[in-house]
Amino acid sequence: MSKGKILVTGGTGYIGSHTAVELINSGYDVVIIDDLSNSSADVVDGIERITGVRPAFVEGSCANPHVVAKLFAEHPGINAIINFAASKAVGESVKKPLLYYRNNLNILINLLEQMAPNGVKGIVFSSSCTVYGEPDINPVTEQSPIKKATSPYGNTKQIAEEIITDAIASGEPIKSVILRYFNPIGSHPSAEIGELPNGVPQNLIPYLTQTAIGLREKLSIFGNDYNTPDGTCIRDYIDIIDLARAHVKAVERLLDPSTPQIEIFNIGTGNGLSVKQLVDTFEEATGVKVPHVYADRRQGDIEQVWADPALANNVLGWKAETPLAETLKNAWRWQLRLRERGIM
Ligand code: UD1
Repeated sequence: MSKGKILVTGGTGYIGSHTAVELINSGYDVVIIDDLSNSSADVVDGIERITGVRPAFVEGSCANPHVVAKLFAEHPGINAIINFAASKAVGESVKKPLLYYRNNLNILINLLEQMAPNGVKGIVFSSSCTVYGEPDINPVTEQSPIKKATSPYGNTKQIAEEIITDAIASGEPIKSVILRYFNPIGSHPSAEIGELPNGVPQNLIPYLTQTAIGLREKLSIFGNDYNTPDGTCIRDYIDIIDLARAHVKAVERLLDPSTPQIEIFNIGTGNGLSVKQLVDTFEEATGVKVPHVYADRRQGDIEQVWADPALANNVLGWKAETPLAETLKNAWRWQLRLRERGIM
């Protein structure tokens, strides 16, 4: 018997697709909506190959309230939403701030407004460690200060958290779990789904794996003069499957009437790792060399940030489990699969 029907917005994207798999494997019915602006409908086939179940798929944008209304009408009985649908490129958001505010905030508001009338109990929101800015103290807890956002993208995450908080404080009869992700990396071990950025990758791992396979000449490590042990930036890299499982836990809490109406959790490993350490670990884990050079610092980068995941460990009952070497091997397996398929 199904444990519930979950709407996954942005469900053909990187985190959304992995979460759809974990939800289905945990006994939930999944409805995906995605406007395919940064993903492909083929991802639904990948989810089906892994799980043996084909989730319902709707092509459309939740930034349009009529699309959301039609979705709820055609898929009655949705118990909870996981909202991944959003524009997410930090650099692009600086160039096109209005697009980011309009898209990311309209999607959230449309969903929030239509939840209660359609009997939807709760929403999981994808927030980010970006809300902590450059922290004074690491690791950061959920109580660490929220710093002024360094990009419109980051600001949409801060504003979204406030919108949800205000809506619930006003008496909106819904619940929310806000997850602040650190740096998600890796792929499903089957290599049926993974991260597929459009054009030149902005994030570290896709650039690294594309360099390892020879699509890019070399990886630029942005800055080696930071105040860190080896001079490169430090992040908390979280395995995509572990991250996806955090969403299943969050849905369980939303559907449990005894939990608070709103909760916020850091989703990270608790280990800070430098860019250089990450490159070294990739080379050791895969036996593949990654040509790299040190380049100038990237504008807007934070020197170091990693999570204190104690609250998620103790309250959500979730813990990062996958060893980093395994995660990096999965990322590499996915890059090799893309080549086999002639996609890249
Ligand atoms: C950023 C955002 C995060 C967002 C994520 C998604 C901030 C502080 N963080 O993470 O909220 O969810 O993007 O896009 O805005 N690096 C290189 N060479 C490269 C690429 C990256 O050295 O070619 C380094 C970066 O300098 C950084 C680390 O690798 O130190 C990770 O970078 P990246 O993968 O882009 O993620 P963040 O910038 O940490």
